[in-house]
Amino acid sequence: MKATVFVATAIAGLGATSDALADGDPTRGAQHYRACVACHALEPELHLSGPSLGNVFERKAGTAEGFVRYSDGLKTADFIWNAAALDGWLKDPAAMIPGTYMVFQGIANPQARADLIAFLEIAGKPGGGGKAAADGLIPAAWLRAGAPEPIRDVPPQARVTAIRHCGDSYFIRTDDGQETPYWEKNIRLKIDSVETGPPKGVAVILGAGMAGDRVSVIFSSLTDLISLVQEKC
Ligand code: HEC
Repeated sequence: MKATVFVATAIAGLGATSDALADGDPTRGAQHYRACVACHALEPELHLSGPSLGNVFERKAGTAEGFVRYSDGLKTADFIWNAAALDGWLKDPAAMIPGTYMVFQGIANPQARADLIAFLEIAGKPGGGGKAAADGLIPAAWLRAGAPEPIRDVPPQARVTAIRHCGDSYFIRTDDGQETPYWEKNIRLKIDSVETGPPKGVAVILGAGMAGDRVSVIFSSLTDLISLVQEKC
């Protein structure tokens, strides 16, 4: 495939030791990228448990804008994510950056790494995620990956006005005037402080998990959480 050869040549030209890297095929690489979707979005500045990989290609390591959970190793790293650096990282992240928070055992097969790097060279450049989706390399859903749907237009029965904790239970009052009791272990209190979360001052109750009685209450800030939850029987 001509396009493949072109991509591989372009990678070799970026200062990588060309003989260490096999020719990469971005179409196959997009399939390997499936292993990354649980933790990374491609939309720039959309951080999940890992930093956004939007614009990662040739970005300085440990510098994604707004991502505050880098390990010391990545925070102080002094290299850019070119093909050679990505090859080392994807082979064995913990060997390259001891103490890294990226829990990933690595990809032993050099061809699979080269394919994935060829894909990241497209998807990890400005506008690249959208381009990869438009070209059919990946489903559009992978751009936002595991990011929750933004919370909008909350109906009164999902809008929380007060939470009482008493004994082993939460009593959750909603904007339709109902107060519903829940076993404390079935409730998750979560904060979503970015744009996917509820508006400031509003807490939202969402059904979660398999059993119908397990719910999450999402707050937009710790301040909202503290002001809404009370110990009161
Ligand atoms: C289990 C979650 C998880 C998976 C799966 C995962 N990553 Fe990561 N990734 C992270 C975390 C967390 C970090 C930050 C690591 C640190 O600070 O040490 C990270 C960091 C990175 C970085 C450095 C980004 C920067 O801004 O410096 C790159 C590149 C990267 N991952 C690529 C990948 C690729 C490609 C895959 C798929 C093969 C993948 N990751 C799979 C969680 C994950």
